[in-house]
Amino acid sequence: MTRPRLTLTPNDPAGAPARPPGEETHRLWGGRFASGSAPALERLNRSLDVDIRLWPHDIRLSRAWAVGLWSAGVVTLDESTRLEQGLAAVGRRLADGVTALPSDEDVHTLIDRLLHEEIGDLAARLHTGRSRNDQVATATRLWTMDAAVLLDEAVRALQRTLLALAEAAGDIIMPAYTHLQRAQPVLASHWLLSHFWPLERDRARISAAARAASVLPLGAGAVAGCAFPVPRALLKESLGFAALSENSIDAVADRDFAAELLFAIALLGTHLSRLAEDLIVYGSSEFGFVRFGDAFTTGSSMMPQKRNPDALELTRQVSARALGDLTALLATLKGLPSGYNKDLQEDKRSLFDAVDAMLLVLPATAGAVAEIEMVPDRMAAALSSGMMATDLADYLVRRGATFREAHTAVGSIVRTAETEGVELGVLPLSVYQAAHALFAEDVYDALSPTASIAARSVAGGTAPAAVREQLARARNLVAGSTKTPPRGNSII
Ligand code: ARG
Repeated sequence: MTRPRLTLTPNDPAGAPARPPGEETHRLWGGRFASGSAPALERLNRSLDVDIRLWPHDIRLSRAWAVGLWSAGVVTLDESTRLEQGLAAVGRRLADGVTALPSDEDVHTLIDRLLHEEIGDLAARLHTGRSRNDQVATATRLWTMDAAVLLDEAVRALQRTLLALAEAAGDIIMPAYTHLQRAQPVLASHWLLSHFWPLERDRARISAAARAASVLPLGAGAVAGCAFPVPRALLKESLGFAALSENSIDAVADRDFAAELLFAIALLGTHLSRLAEDLIVYGSSEFGFVRFGDAFTTGSSMMPQKRNPDALELTRQVSARALGDLTALLATLKGLPSGYNKDLQEDKRSLFDAVDAMLLVLPATAGAVAEIEMVPDRMAAALSSGMMATDLADYLVRRGATFREAHTAVGSIVRTAETEGVELGVLPLSVYQAAHALFAEDVYDALSPTASIAARSVAGGTAPAAVREQLARARNLVAGSTKTPPRGNSII
């Protein structure tokens, strides 16, 4: 995605005298001020370097507003058309790259100045009945709706990659861990799919955030509503929103949609981080369950043997960044009195950063996963017989023992094996029978990882048949998603 080419002329240096009001500036305010603002305020107040990314949405909503003003009888049809055409011309200039002036406080001011350059004084009619408060809320919502589509596609792509790897894993068996201690054998595909489902929940949260964003604030004005009869329902339709804001005070201050998307992203980042962590651990020489490929790993400048999983490590870090963005937004919102407050200007910094971060790491994670090679021998070698202790207890339960009694008996056998430093399968039957009279010759069959897996055939379990069903459900979901909404077009 190409960023707009915006050349920012620097702000005046610190300590420079305040510019007199109106001098070389194009502002959307200023009439009531006797002197100009201080350069230090201008530097603080200026948000153009961040909110320039809203320009396609600001142009779009402004064009719809020009039509709304005609419908409200504020401008003639001809004026409305000229406003629209002027805005389209401004859009083309912005797409080509523009040089901003120090007085271009934010994207709305910049567009207003450029519109004046295009169509002259008529431009001054566009801001009738609206405020940057309802304007920026509308543009940010449009941006968020597009961002949600792109995020959804990127999550989907990672899910497809995980699914392909799970399908290719066939009947490979590996240890599953709890407390990072060997726990029970599972199919490797079961482990891979354990990272598929959290992503499916992330998609639902992203789409819920997009629905929350799909409420049109335009028409709320600064805080009390627009005093001209603009057709809000038509604006809603033409801009593709699902609903109209119910309350103008709420409409200009509501950033729930941004907080919801940031939470969805923070949790998505958490899931990616856990996937990355699994792979980093399993890819270490000590585990050796997976091998990384060349395209998403890096070498060391000093140690020639190194292959470092940088993509996965950076993915792990990015959830920290997303969490910071969510925290910054929530901390911003919680202390605000009702209506718009300038603190809200910073919402975009958090929102854009978190979305950018995710759109960077999702393809890198998918790429790193795609080139992973499983090492079944190392996985099999890690399947120690102690991991079948639960199966031994289940064996006794099937023969009538209570689980409590079986647990104690098997615990004593495990202790004997540990003391003698041997695997459970090496202990003679007499040791088993001394621990519990219900043990018979076939107890050794219960020590097979394949039998252990086959026994877990409940829905959601690791038995091959259950995993086949799981794979089929995952495949259906992924196949169904080709019908999802069109690509988000402009979060630049
Ligand atoms: N740049 C501002 C923002 O992003 C636009 C709204 C300014 N509103 C105001 N009342 N000064 O929030």
